[in-house]
Amino acid sequence: MANVILIGTQWGDEGKGKIVDLLTEWAEVVVRFQGGNNAGHTLVIEGQRYALHLIPSGIMRPGKTCVIGSGVVVDLKILLEEIELIQKQSGRNVLSQLILSDEAHLILESHRRLDQAREQQRGAAKIGTTGRGIGPAYESKMARWGLRLGDLLAPEAVLRDKLKNLLDQHNLLLEKIYNEAPVSFDQVFAELQAAAAIVRPAIKKVPYELAQCLKNSESILFEGAQGTLLDIDHGTYPFVTSSSTLAANACASSGVGVTDIDEVIGVVKAYTTRVGSGPFPVELDDATGEHLSVRGGEVGTTTGRPRRCGWLDLVALRFATLLNGLNSIALTKLDVLSGLKTIKVCTGYRLHGEVIDYFPSSIEELELCEPVLTEFAGWDEDISGILDYDKLPENAKKYVAYIEEQLGIKAMLVSVGPDRAQTMIRHNPFVG
Ligand code: GDP
Ligand code: IMO
Ligand code: MG
Repeated sequence: MANVILIGTQWGDEGKGKIVDLLTEWAEVVVRFQGGNNAGHTLVIEGQRYALHLIPSGIMRPGKTCVIGSGVVVDLKILLEEIELIQKQSGRNVLSQLILSDEAHLILESHRRLDQAREQQRGAAKIGTTGRGIGPAYESKMARWGLRLGDLLAPEAVLRDKLKNLLDQHNLLLEKIYNEAPVSFDQVFAELQAAAAIVRPAIKKVPYELAQCLKNSESILFEGAQGTLLDIDHGTYPFVTSSSTLAANACASSGVGVTDIDEVIGVVKAYTTRVGSGPFPVELDDATGEHLSVRGGEVGTTTGRPRRCGWLDLVALRFATLLNGLNSIALTKLDVLSGLKTIKVCTGYRLHGEVIDYFPSSIEELELCEPVLTEFAGWDEDISGILDYDKLPENAKKYVAYIEEQLGIKAMLVSVGPDRAQTMIRHNPFVG
């Protein structure tokens, strides 16, 4: 038995969904603990592609329990759509595999509308959010007038009061500040009631549920969303998401003690991508960037936006290693580098003529940083069919070894294609 946290180390889209789906073979329970349907986690199982936004990536495995923890913001409309889609694809009763925290906050129509209105008002300075209402939903939570899944279990009058309180505030903002039409109370209330009738049996007290799992010696896998550099505290603020994406938050936001965790895995894409605005020192605007974008299929799973591409950034990854207390990395998309004559890696930033090895907290500083690059010889071979690590081209192994040496931790697996099967596990935390 082991309890493992898996998080993204870059700006999201590192391949977390694929690795969670793979590792769920050895875990009984998978927990999403932050973010919402701004996430887009892609799984490919025997050639079939699945895109999940809210439901944990363990759901494709029959019999596994999938938990949405208190730190997640839940859009019930999306949750129901996702349940229906997976039900159709798998022929299984998906709801019976789900546990939803009564403490998780709801994303309502007004949150989505405010997210979009704010982005529009920011104009050129927009964050490039996914427009899913994530920021406003966390604002409501912190302002302490948010609605939680547990409110759907309360008497109708209580739910009515809470919703009215929230929508009165939001409609004032929408009408007076953003010049937008108000959101209809009756429509939102009716939608909430309809959704509640379906999801009610799955709403539970997650900390007690997880404590029971631990007592039963069931292994828990915590699935991060977004990535370390999108973290609200340590990321490229304000071009970040509105939750804590770090490993430490897996415990706080699901209600499990930190002493129950055995291993923290950071998913690292073999190069770097970013969606939305914000500084990105290693960004490539040339043929190599195009190679990574095309070969890597770098188009957002949630919004369909092209992802910006660049070399691997070790300054950022060293920061992610310390912030998350990583024990190991899961290295993905190594196959995408095939065919490049030279592969470069950023080992430091040049700022005001000096080389720094820390990740600046201020985006104004980060924007001035020039990457200091080290070169590696590439490899030509298509490696997407290789299942034995030793059979990788020597130059590919040298690249992996360099990353391991620079971060001071090992790659517990190397992924060479989107399919569950295209993975070389070198150390499995669930089997010791
Ligand atoms: P997540 O948000 O971290 O779960 O990552 P996404 O699913 O948004 O983006 C990762 C993309 O890369 C998806 O399309 C995956 O199917 C794909 N992918 C994952 N691992 C690999 C890999 O090793 N090689 C290749 N070529 N694609 C991969
Ligand atoms: P997964 O889990 C990549 C980015 C958005 C935007 C910023 C804020 O698939 O890795 P938000 O809607 O969260 O307020 O947007 O964060 N972003 C992601 N980028 N992968 C994600 O999730 C992301 N979730 C949010 O593009 O720049
Ligand atoms: Mg994604």
